[in-house]
Amino acid sequence: MRDFEPDDESIISQDYEPLDSPKDFDPGVPNQLLDYVLRTTSEIIDTDLFAVMAKRRSTRKFSDKPVETTKIDKIIAAADTAPTAGNYQGFEIFYVRNLEKKKLLVEACNKQPYVNAPVVLIFCKNPSRVKFNFPDYVLKKFAIQDATLAAGYSQLAAQALGLSSIWIGMFDEQKVMDIIETDLVPSSVLCIGYPEQTKFPKPRRNLKDLVHVTW
Ligand SMILES: Cc1cc2nc3c(=O)[nH]c(=O)nc-3n(C[C@H](O)[C@H](O)[C@H](O)COP(=O)(O)O)c2cc1C
Repeated sequence: MRDFEPDDESIISQDYEPLDSPKDFDPGVPNQLLDYVLRTTSEIIDTDLFAVMAKRRSTRKFSDKPVETTKIDKIIAAADTAPTAGNYQGFEIFYVRNLEKKKLLVEACNKQPYVNAPVVLIFCKNPSRVKFNFPDYVLKKFAIQDATLAAGYSQLAAQALGLSSIWIGMFDEQKVMDIIETDLVPSSVLCIGYPEQTKFPKPRRNLKDLVHVTW
């Protein structure tokens, strides 16, 4: 049971304005901006979800081609469509635009140079948004799942838009938090851009080794 309703806050925070907004945008109407950003279809490359999944491959070499703002808006909006525990949306996104901070993030992410990417999104856990009356460890578990799913949605959206990405899980949490000036613990750093070259997806184990049927 929920104790109270979550804050009526959009993922599009006060500091973030999508490039395109409806003229009659009313911040009081839930999902209005989200739906608008998701519906602008001009730059979508691939609308077949399974084709997007089948083609996705991590990229560690990005071209210098800048990523269009409308694509970034859509990637962020995609994160906002992910399910979250109790719909409390126990995560936040930090969109790192400062070039110096991106360089510092390379160091904070185990010196992985590709972290200095055209687009850098940091998905942080925010268990304080998860208002279930459950033990702290459950709220933290929900927040990490919320943040992870949201980043996964963004990763697929990036692929659908003709971009590629690399998920960074190897980082010094405190260093990242200091750079982006937050008390929230990061869950993943998602680096996005146009790939220097398109590569085939990596192999996976056989499905029959993956799935354990339990009767
Ligand atoms: C939880 C997690 C942590 C990861 N951390 C890193 C990382 O720190 N650095 C990196 O280069 N790739 C990282 N990756 C990307 C994986 O190496 C990559 O997804 C994997 O090799 C499969 O390749 P694919 O994404 O092309 O299918 C991470 C992926 C996940 C899901």
